[in-house]
Amino acid sequence: MQKILVTGGTGYIGSHTVVELQNAGFEVVIVDNLSNSSADVVEGIVRITGIRPAFERLDCLDCAGLDKLFAEHRGIAAVIHFAASKAVGESVQKPLLYYRNNLASLINLLELMPKYGVENFVFSSSCTVYGQPDELPVTERAPRKPAESPYGNTKQICEDIVSDTVRSGAKLKSILLRYFNPIGAHPSAEIGELPLGVPQNLIPFVTQTAAGIRPKLSVFGSDYNTPDGSCIRDYINVVDLAKAHVIAAQRMLTGKSKSAVETFNLGTGRGVSVLEVINTFEKATGAKLSYEVTGRRAGDIEKIWADPSYANEELGWKAKETLEDTLASAWKWQQKLGR
Ligand code: UD1
Repeated sequence: MQKILVTGGTGYIGSHTVVELQNAGFEVVIVDNLSNSSADVVEGIVRITGIRPAFERLDCLDCAGLDKLFAEHRGIAAVIHFAASKAVGESVQKPLLYYRNNLASLINLLELMPKYGVENFVFSSSCTVYGQPDELPVTERAPRKPAESPYGNTKQICEDIVSDTVRSGAKLKSILLRYFNPIGAHPSAEIGELPLGVPQNLIPFVTQTAAGIRPKLSVFGSDYNTPDGSCIRDYINVVDLAKAHVIAAQRMLTGKSKSAVETFNLGTGRGVSVLEVINTFEKATGAKLSYEVTGRRAGDIEKIWADPSYANEELGWKAKETLEDTLASAWKWQQKLGR
């Protein structure tokens, strides 16, 4: 059984990926500092798969601790690196925290991997690297635009750090996965997104509003150059997204990579507006959503959706879940969380 180290493995995308890795027969070691998640997530994973992953509470900034972890868990075949700070607004307030967390964690891992003979690295990147693309849908060949936030900048710099390290001749292969907007929860509602405090992302705000935790959802902007005036995104089911990580790891482990660094867009290929999300949520769940249209949110991209054809063809991966089912899964998870 091959062993995969998942950093940030109790986080939102990380935990769903751990489940899919276990389902695919991998042994998983989770490292997470629990800064934005809880150790209970491990129990949710166990309830779904019946398998307990190894779990180490550790910050990837702790190089000595990571070194010890690699020494204790010999034979790691690949690292999937999720652990990072991800709130755009917070990154503007605390840029140094973001640069330190996101860059130094990555550097620690890339420095330690050769010492333990680990040659395969999957990196969590984001469509944020494209900024507002000139052409839609956006392909992997689209130029990266200057980042709108320190968070976005860390994703660009981290992609460069990985690429430069591979190019330096290090015994390393990598796959950079650019996520569009991951949403929803595991259909079992055993794991899902756990926002701390007031959610900044759309779907947790929607489900918390429907649950009566928030009085009203604000729709940020009605005067965008889109059919209904609200922003457009490519919302991808988190389990679909998780499955792409399993395929990426398998691709490297079975020597199928076409180059030492590969980049893939992970999206559905379908652009959906904020107002369409609201309507679909109400239709899918029967819940009523109280919302008002307000001003634009600073730094928002008007519209972006993926051209996922390269991932579809090369990885043999495709986002399968409908938006309806995905929003229903988010609602089921919210109902389980309660108020
Ligand atoms: C952004 C980044 C993404 C990053 C993510 C991290 C872009 C294009 N995307 O996602 O790469 O990983 O942040 O958090 O830069 N909205 C409302 N009301 C709300 C909340 C959101 O109307 O209360 C709208 C936003 O204006 C946006 C859409 O919902 O149009 C999605 O917002 P959100 O979930 O925050 O994700 P992004 O901003 O797309």
